[in-house]
Amino acid sequence: MKTFAWMAAAALAAAGCSSMGAGGGGARAVASLEPTQGNSAHGAVTFTQRGDRVHVVAHVMGLKPGATHGFHVHEKGDCGSADGMSTGGHFNPDGHPHGPQSAAHHAGDMPALVADAYGTADAAFDLAGVSLGGGAPDLVGKGLIVHRDPDDYTTQPTGNAGPRIACAVIRRA
Ligand code: CU
Ligand code: ZN
Repeated sequence: MKTFAWMAAAALAAAGCSSMGAGGGGARAVASLEPTQGNSAHGAVTFTQRGDRVHVVAHVMGLKPGATHGFHVHEKGDCGSADGMSTGGHFNPDGHPHGPQSAAHHAGDMPALVADAYGTADAAFDLAGVSLGGGAPDLVGKGLIVHRDPDDYTTQPTGNAGPRIACAVIRRA
């Protein structure tokens, strides 16, 4: 019953998306987070174009229990380095400062992940000003990083979120 209700809600949400922008309607992307060297964080993240927004659903495990972890899209889809630094800085094609969703911010800035007592974080949120190939800055092919520490949304240009504990490349699904 619970599952059915969720499916019905999802179907209604999809049906309500009648004003999807040209090119990006319903596009999906996925990212499989793998731990960087010496870390344990891993998980799965999906991105779905909904109108002019991108809906993000993240399920991440192996985090520090109870801790808040900075979470960003980075400019390069390259997890080749052991520390995740190969993804470069935050995805920022518009030259904005680093910040929260409520102010000017990098296209790659996102709400932080909050781990429960078991080190698992489940998050779902919408991003404005980005797309999955719909004209606004495209998240496909970019890097995805989970940080050890909270994002203060103030320190430039990183949010001072510490080392990169998990890395993924965002791929079209
Ligand atoms: Cu980051
Ligand atoms: Zn940023």
